[in-house]
Amino acid sequence: MGSSFRFLFALFCAVPALSLPASPYEVKESVHPPHGWVQHSAPSPSHGIELRIGLPQPNFGVLETHLYEVSDPDHHRYGQHLSKEEVEELIAPHPDSLDAVNDWLASHGIQEEDVTRSPGKDWVTLKLPVELVEKMLDTKYHVWKHTKTGDYIVRTTSYSLPIHLHEHVDVIQPTTMFGQFKPFRSTISKVEAAPATPAANSLGSLVNPATGLTIDASCNVTITVSCLQQLYNAVGFTPSAKGNSIGITGYLEEFANFADLQQFFAQQVPAAENSSFKVVSVNNGLNNQSDPGFEANLDVQFAFGISHPITPTFFTTGGSPPFIPDDDTPTDTNEPYLNWLDFILSQENIPLSISTSYGDDEQTVPEAFAKRVCADFAQLGARGTSVIFSSGDNGVGDGDSNPATQTCFTNNGRNETKFIPVFPATCPFVTSVGATDNVAPEVAVSSFFSGGGFSNYFSRPPYQDVVVPNYLKTELAPGTFEGLFNPEGRGFPDISAQGDRFEIIVGGQAFLIGGTSASSPTVNGFISLLNDVRLKSGWPALGFLNPFIYKKGFAGFTDILSGHNSGCGTPGFNVTKGWDPVTGFGTPNFGKLKELILEVTGA
Ligand SMILES: *[C@@H]1O[C@H](CO)[C@@H](O)[C@H](O)[C@H]1NC(C)=O
Ligand SMILES: *[C@@H]1O[C@H](CO)[C@@H](O)[C@H](O)[C@H]1NC(C)=O
Ligand SMILES: *[C@@H]1O[C@H](CO)[C@@H](O)[C@H](O)[C@H]1NC(C)=O
Ligand SMILES: *[C@@H]1O[C@H](CO)[C@@H](O)[C@H](O)[C@H]1NC(C)=O
Ligand SMILES: *[C@@H]1O[C@H](CO)[C@@H](O)[C@H](O)[C@H]1NC(C)=O
Repeated sequence: MGSSFRFLFALFCAVPALSLPASPYEVKESVHPPHGWVQHSAPSPSHGIELRIGLPQPNFGVLETHLYEVSDPDHHRYGQHLSKEEVEELIAPHPDSLDAVNDWLASHGIQEEDVTRSPGKDWVTLKLPVELVEKMLDTKYHVWKHTKTGDYIVRTTSYSLPIHLHEHVDVIQPTTMFGQFKPFRSTISKVEAAPATPAANSLGSLVNPATGLTIDASCNVTITVSCLQQLYNAVGFTPSAKGNSIGITGYLEEFANFADLQQFFAQQVPAAENSSFKVVSVNNGLNNQSDPGFEANLDVQFAFGISHPITPTFFTTGGSPPFIPDDDTPTDTNEPYLNWLDFILSQENIPLSISTSYGDDEQTVPEAFAKRVCADFAQLGARGTSVIFSSGDNGVGDGDSNPATQTCFTNNGRNETKFIPVFPATCPFVTSVGATDNVAPEVAVSSFFSGGGFSNYFSRPPYQDVVVPNYLKTELAPGTFEGLFNPEGRGFPDISAQGDRFEIIVGGQAFLIGGTSASSPTVNGFISLLNDVRLKSGWPALGFLNPFIYKKGFAGFTDILSGHNSGCGTPGFNVTKGWDPVTGFGTPNFGKLKELILEVTGA
């Protein structure tokens, strides 16, 4: 427990009532606990909560306008990304909000030195005993237990604020946030036989009818970096621009292992042998080299294997379960990606493309919180970073591994069945990536189901205004899945990439692993190669990708024409010609995209 926490607790006990809030309390947010969470016990009064207060960003609309202009390939400002300072100015809260929140905190004995603020001052973070938080938010916390996973968290289903504060606060968490950030790896199997790589050509070759490209036949069984280079038309390309960079985020004590990467490089990317990556620790994230993680190794081996020698960084972010109910340490606080966002947005230099293979059912993340986190991703895009997320591995369904028995119950207390979209993949400011398998041709992945569908929180972004209504009108029979999804919502994924039977090294041994967890670092690698092409020609990096992809870039993706994404007891959506909510526009063709991105030159 931190010393500021002890200090505040002592203060709270000694000085129980300073000036009281000026207005009565009213409920700010109220939720139904998501399926699977049951009340367990009362937390210890001294249980530490790392409280985050999100203040409104009155000029976010201006930031959004800038973001769309600098990302629109037809706009003269294309590529003219904003500086850190410009972004911070645009997301700054109104001084009245800062004052109102400060007064309220002071009325509970909390001073400026007790809080930390995000660079834009739009988030206030402070460590407090739950007893004080309950008083400040006029609520009661409980320890909740998940019936399936056995995880514990300390949450409430409702919290209140003095009426005058409502307009000065967007969100306060952890309160109603039950979501858990989970890695999207679906299938792992150990490779018992010798690795496939040395025998890559022994099975002969295949021609992908969709692209005309020739691919080792072994790639239909095992995916290697070489397979992806062949399949996505990047054979022989070596990046050489200065100033390029690529990042992978890791959470939940998933550590990327240096020795495994060397072994992987020796087998799959000999030219990268002896090269390594930088590890950046966020929120005391560890880097335990005795504990290699499947997710972290998959992401690092493939993203950095594809993009070598572009400068690679792995972010290890601390703050994760398991949480022990009687412990006073604040370990189960917010989603760790907020810690990462705080950190990354405070940096002058941010990797130009970053992928994350984690997420959760959108409905487990309260809407106000999801919107604030999504707005943070918009900041990254405005600064010129491509933000890439996996679309999830449960098709249109929920986390129940058997698509036939998924209840897909809504979280509104009525147990209605609805398709379950995945966050952050549904955030309109990220590029979300679904999964394919087979190589000649590629199809929507069938060993699990590519996450896809429509957001219930985020309305359709302008860049989808042609494609998505067209899909709904011409590809879905009238009335199909009516009431099961929000046809006005942001459709996802945007694109896709191979997502199964990736050969990786973990703890010195070869494994095959699958999931949209594999697809997003793959896309990250190829986007990084495209950034190389842009930088070498003297143009800025690609930044927020979607406006480009939906307007021009789609021509550089190979449309996937077969498959569907089962879930909730339905076969899910079908893959169709053009964009669909299973594989988006399809998989990248680097050779074609290389040409397209050089036609987009802005002013
Ligand atoms: C690729 O593998 C799948 C099974 O995983 C098989 O159905 C398909 O026929 C194979 N494709 C080719 C071209 O061999
Ligand atoms: C990597 O280092 C080893 C040991 O120093 C050396 O034998 C090998 O040639 C190096 N490989 C490359 C690709 O530089
Ligand atoms: C590192 O991981 C190993 C293996 O899981 C574990 O035994 C060890 O305690 C960990 N070390 C630290 C510092 O967490
Ligand atoms: C919803 O389902 C859960 C678990 O099956 C059950 O406990 C609860 O009573 C149901 N609620 C309603 C309103 O049907
Ligand atoms: C998907 O395709 C199958 C076979 O053509 C068809 O029966 C089904 O209605 C389609 N589903 C949707 C959601 O369009």
